[in-house]
Amino acid sequence: MKLLIENWRKFLTEAEGDYFPWLQQLRDDSAKFIEDQQDKGGRVGSGSFRTVIVPEEDKDFVVKILRYGNNDSYMNKVEKLLGDEFPDVFPRVFAHDPDYRWIVMERVQPISTKNDEMLEEALIATMPKLHQFAYDLLSLEDGSPSSDTKPFNMLRYIVMAAAPRLRPTDLPYGDNTRVTDRVTKIQEFGLANEPWFTQLSKAMKRYGVQWVDLAEGNVGVDMKDHTLKIIDASVFSPQSGEKDWNDDINEEMLTEKC
Ligand SMILES: Nc1ncnc2c1ncn2[C@@H]1O[C@H](COP(=O)(O)OP(=O)(O)OP(=O)(O)O)[C@@H](O)[C@H]1O
Ligand SMILES: [Mg+2]
Repeated sequence: MKLLIENWRKFLTEAEGDYFPWLQQLRDDSAKFIEDQQDKGGRVGSGSFRTVIVPEEDKDFVVKILRYGNNDSYMNKVEKLLGDEFPDVFPRVFAHDPDYRWIVMERVQPISTKNDEMLEEALIATMPKLHQFAYDLLSLEDGSPSSDTKPFNMLRYIVMAAAPRLRPTDLPYGDNTRVTDRVTKIQEFGLANEPWFTQLSKAMKRYGVQWVDLAEGNVGVDMKDHTLKIIDASVFSPQSGEKDWNDDINEEMLTEKC
């Protein structure tokens, strides 16, 4: 990581092309750059909105580029802002297109349900006290594991607890008392004891990060310290959250419409 930051410092102070020739290619012709990288096998992921590649020359980064029109650019912009404001929770974004068609983001190891022990380790490394608290709360009466203590199910409780509010439709049909009671306990404990949880909660409120999508495919492990990172901020509207983070984008959209 130290090397990564040093490289970026050099990049900021000296001619970027000398240190990151691939970044210059990306700036000059992003479509060609992505095609070339895909031909070299650099594609690591693709979601509903963005294609993600690892530059062959710098495998510590990913480039996330919009698949469709610029209307989705707020998704890249919000990840840049979140990485700046909450760098323990979201990967840093080191460079971006002026219109946010693409961003260059720190690479992390995505976690899937197939390797969910990686998620358990990340939860322990990131929020040791909250992990223990949630484990005790969600395990069976005799202390043995339950389906709720499985890593992705525990993560679901944690992100629900970090959400500013839960709508009735967010909860399962029927009597939700047990779930809401557990979520409330995790929230109170998390806010009192775990800085990462508090940062996530603030990020969700300020920028409208949706808890529902903070799950498989959208979370990863920071390769430097094995902590949890949110790789897809899951903000689904340029108007969401309580902060005016998208004023300029809104103005651009209004101008386009006129
Ligand atoms: N920083 C990263 N490091 C490594 N892999 C990443 C990173 N960001 C994204 N990916 C990979 O690319 C995939 C797609 O990225 P992402 O989820 O951000 O795109 P999206 O279009 O917003 O997806 P969705 O369909 O979930 O809305 C991820 O599931 C993950 O496998
Ligand atoms: Mg995603």
